[in-house]
Amino acid sequence: MSNRTFTMIKPDATGKGFTGAILDQVIKAGFFIKAMKWTRLTAEQAGAFYEIHKSRPFYGELVEFMSSGPIVAAILEKENAVADFRTLIGATDPSKAAEGTIRKQFAASVGENAVHGSDSDENAIIEGDFFFSKLERF
Ligand code: RTP
Ligand code: MG
Repeated sequence: MSNRTFTMIKPDATGKGFTGAILDQVIKAGFFIKAMKWTRLTAEQAGAFYEIHKSRPFYGELVEFMSSGPIVAAILEKENAVADFRTLIGATDPSKAAEGTIRKQFAASVGENAVHGSDSDENAIIEGDFFFSKLERF
C-alpha cells in the first residue's frame, strides 16, 4: 500500500471552471498536494501518457480530448492514496458513479470525465515522473 497517487483535472473540467471546486473536495478528503502544475499536453504527450490504452477503440478520441485544453497535474499524498482517490472520483462512466463522487458531480460522459486517478502504486510513480522532476515535489 503506497501513500501517493497521481491525478489530472481534465480539459472538460478546467474549461468549465471546476478546478477550484474539485481541488477543494480533494483537499477536504484528506489528500495533501506534493506537486502541482497547470499545463497543456500536446497530442504526442497525451498519446505517450495513455500509451497503455493504445489498442483500445477510444484511444484516438482520448488523445484528442486530453490535448484539447489545459489540465492540472498533481501528486497527492494520503494513507492508501491510490484506492481512496479512486473511491473519491467514482466510476469511469459518471452515470454509474456513486452519489457525491467527483465524477458524479462534475463529469459529463465516459470520455469527458473530469479527473484522472492512477490505478496502481506502480502507475502512480510512472505518471508522477511523467510530469514532475525531483525539484518540483515538496
Ligand atoms: P483514468 O485512467 O482517466 O483515471 O480513468 P479510468 O482508470 O477510470 O478508466 P480507464 O479504463 O483507464 O480509461 C482511461 C480514460 O479513457 C476514456 N475512456 N473512454 N469511450 C469510452 O468507452 C472510454 N472508455 C474510457 C476515459 O476518459 C477514461 O477516463
Ligand atoms: Mg485508468
